[in-house]
Amino acid sequence: MIPTWVQLAYLLAAVCFIVALKGLSSPRTARRGNLIGAVGALLATVVVFWERDIDHVLPILVAIAVGSVAGVAGAQRVQMTQMPQLVALFNGVGGGAAALVALLELAELGEVASLGEVAEFDLAATAFTVLIGSLSFSGSLVTFAKLQELMTTRPVLFPGLPVAFGGSLLAAIALSVLLVVNPALWPGVVVAVLGLVVGVLLVLPVGGADVPIVISLLNAFTGLSVAAGGYVLGNTLLLVAGTLVGAAGTFLTRLMATAMGRSLANTLFGALKGGSTLGAGEASDRPVKSTAPEDVAILLGYAQRVLVVPGYGLAVAQAQHTLRELVDVLTERGVQVDYAIHPVAGRMPGHMNVLLAEAQVPYEQLKEMDEINGEFKEADVVLVVGANDVVNPAARTTPGAPIYGMPILNADEARQVVFMKRSMRPGFAGIENELLFEPQTTLLFGDAKQTMSKLLNAVKAL
Ligand code: TAP
Repeated sequence: MIPTWVQLAYLLAAVCFIVALKGLSSPRTARRGNLIGAVGALLATVVVFWERDIDHVLPILVAIAVGSVAGVAGAQRVQMTQMPQLVALFNGVGGGAAALVALLELAELGEVASLGEVAEFDLAATAFTVLIGSLSFSGSLVTFAKLQELMTTRPVLFPGLPVAFGGSLLAAIALSVLLVVNPALWPGVVVAVLGLVVGVLLVLPVGGADVPIVISLLNAFTGLSVAAGGYVLGNTLLLVAGTLVGAAGTFLTRLMATAMGRSLANTLFGALKGGSTLGAGEASDRPVKSTAPEDVAILLGYAQRVLVVPGYGLAVAQAQHTLRELVDVLTERGVQVDYAIHPVAGRMPGHMNVLLAEAQVPYEQLKEMDEINGEFKEADVVLVVGANDVVNPAARTTPGAPIYGMPILNADEARQVVFMKRSMRPGFAGIENELLFEPQTTLLFGDAKQTMSKLLNAVKAL
């Protein structure tokens, strides 16, 4: 029987997790939300030490210390643009841990089962945790390797992949059923190995642009396996936390897929049908109009309405602070400036919000796509800073393009469009952007940080 104070502490931790999720829904409260969630996790961990009569305390403390040092060092060193990889790694170890705990539990359940005292549902939940946890572990490691470019970011296909995937999955399910009927450790270990294989085969055919969607999906899987593990261990907090992660991951997966105009099935299996998700596109050699910072300064300084479209390149160049300064100077000159934020600009959900919040951009200036899209036709100038796919009209006009169907920012409706980028290389989707060649478009070539500084000085000198 779990003491009441422990139940209350777990309840408090669960409330922390829910409040944390609520906080994470807005950039204004996200930092606090994150902290509240961390406090909940700490509380839950500490309570376990008091509540249970734990064996092997020293190795556990050493493991916690090693994990904490690695986590803190990793989180401090990671660049903002590498955040999805970090999430993949953290998620993977979470799934792996759930699978390991379930295997250990299975060893005990196996012994008790011989006395006929274990409910079949417990065994089914254990098998589920082993399978999904190990799948999530190996899948997450492959997504990490793809995003970190330790392996190709393109879809990896080989003859017989669908058969190998389907066969491994079916075998894992069959062994899970066997495990419920005849509880023992060995089928559990085989299920874990098959889960690892299924995880790898699931992620290999997914191309780079879709990898973050799959990370979110695997995150949901980890949540579900942790929830099932919580059921097996009779731990309500794990059940609640796992369910929250499972639900949040599922919503995020759907939101990201919708924002990219893709179905989940197409994301996972599109490459198998030949409809791959991205390629490392070639730089175009078609002629474009290039411009100088001084000319763009005049365009911006004498405009009434300017919209800024930030994208992945802004994060790469770390030009957000200079951009904010530029917008401040323009605002002081009486120009009305807003940032148009596409939901999948950058490489992770909320990437631009986080980046611009870091540069102290007021939240009121950040306008979501649906809110701002009607205003592009009134804009004198659209300044596209390191963005490409999110303003590429191919999403509307070119069936078969990797981004076809993705809602885009209507930058092409503005009177003037200025692109800040380094070359004629395409964006993440690897396809040419027709807007670069339109008569109203000029290109300010160079690393966004350097060109932004020049532009800022030129506007100040007006
Ligand atoms: P992209 O289409 O990838 O375009 C980024 C642009 O930035 C490129 O044209 C690149 O051109 C330029 N650039 C890179 N480094 C730069 C630098 N230092 N200075 C100046 N420019 C630089 O980015 P986007 O418009 O933000 O679109 C995001 C893409 O990522 C979409 O396809 C989306 O589906 C995908 N995606 C998003 C997410 C989420 S959740 N945000 C997740 C996965 C995938 P140069 O190389 O010529 O400089």
